Amino acid sequence: MRIAVFSAQPYDKQFLEQENGRHGYELNYFDQLLNETNAELCKGFDAVCAFVNDDLSAPVLEKLKAVGVRFIALRCAGFNNVDLLAAKALGLPVVRVPAYSPEAVAEHTLALILTLNRKTHRAYNRVRESNFTLNGLLGFNLHGKTFGLIGTGQIGLATAKIIKGFGCNLIAHDPYPNPDFLALGGRYVELDELYQQSDIISLHCPLSEESHHLIDEQAISLMKDGVMLINTSRGGLVDTRALIAGLKSRKVRALGLDVYEQESQLFFHDHSGEIIDDELFERLQSFPNVLITGHQGFFTEEALTQIAAVTLGNLDCLKSGQPCDNELTHSIS
Ligand code: NAI
Repeated sequence: MRIAVFSAQPYDKQFLEQENGRHGYELNYFDQLLNETNAELCKGFDAVCAFVNDDLSAPVLEKLKAVGVRFIALRCAGFNNVDLLAAKALGLPVVRVPAYSPEAVAEHTLALILTLNRKTHRAYNRVRESNFTLNGLLGFNLHGKTFGLIGTGQIGLATAKIIKGFGCNLIAHDPYPNPDFLALGGRYVELDELYQQSDIISLHCPLSEESHHLIDEQAISLMKDGVMLINTSRGGLVDTRALIAGLKSRKVRALGLDVYEQESQLFFHDHSGEIIDDELFERLQSFPNVLITGHQGFFTEEALTQIAAVTLGNLDCLKSGQPCDNELTHSIS
């Protein structure tokens, strides 16, 4: 089976090749994002292996089908970039990697929180310059603070487990309460109450039509003055303009982002020699209390090993006609 791997970075190749020893597929790597213009590159391929910012909207899926692609294998959990209805109608099964090391993203969430709070990124530079002053590095104790999680699935729960160790009060909102979160001593509340009570709010729900711009001007207005906001889920969950207003008014004390709504134009590529043509992103970058990482929450050896194994395992199932638990198109009616 011939597989076209899009958005392929050297580390994707490394981990997929390592795993492919057991599968024997012909893997071809394309470093560009999949889109309507380049979908024809997939002629002669049986499957497309795509990542978070590849475009799998209906027109792209139609082109893939027309050139003979039979399967779509996402090497990620989120699938907001795929038109599942169109895929189903075209008879193109879509599989994903539903959970690969939720701890990887949870631990990165903590990295953002601790860095923003104790300003270790600034301290590192100061000490390197033999500047041992502490002005501007003041943080707060996490112990005793109220931590609000939006979404308590795999990653939200893994985050809650770590945060419990810091001695925070755990509250959450999720339409499907998770008994494991309750067992940790967490409490479910309505969104408004979560906004009003939380010192730190962390997003761990998927992006969907309902959750698009969940964090908007109205939501921010309900939050505590000095709230810390963390988004390691999907950029579209927050309205960036509202966030910028919240930062300017000092309502938001600190903001940690591993994802950004327009990230497909920026992330996973080196733009260091270019002028960034995104005013909102540049404005975010200008705040000293904003920390942005380029969608690296998943980026651990354990997660990449598992992503490669599950992706190629999913393709084994599809190729042999076996039912695949990780098929998204199953649940579409
Ligand atoms: P999951 O499916 O295990 O959990 C998601 C939870 O969100 C579920 O409990 C669901 O009921 C809840 N939920 C759905 N809509 C909601 C809403 N409107 N409000 C509150 N809760 C809602 O997913 P998992 O594995 O925990 O991943 C969460 C998200 O993290 C993914 O959708 C993906 O966008 C993101 N992610 C980010 C990565 C990164 O590298 N930064 C890597 C992997 C995932």
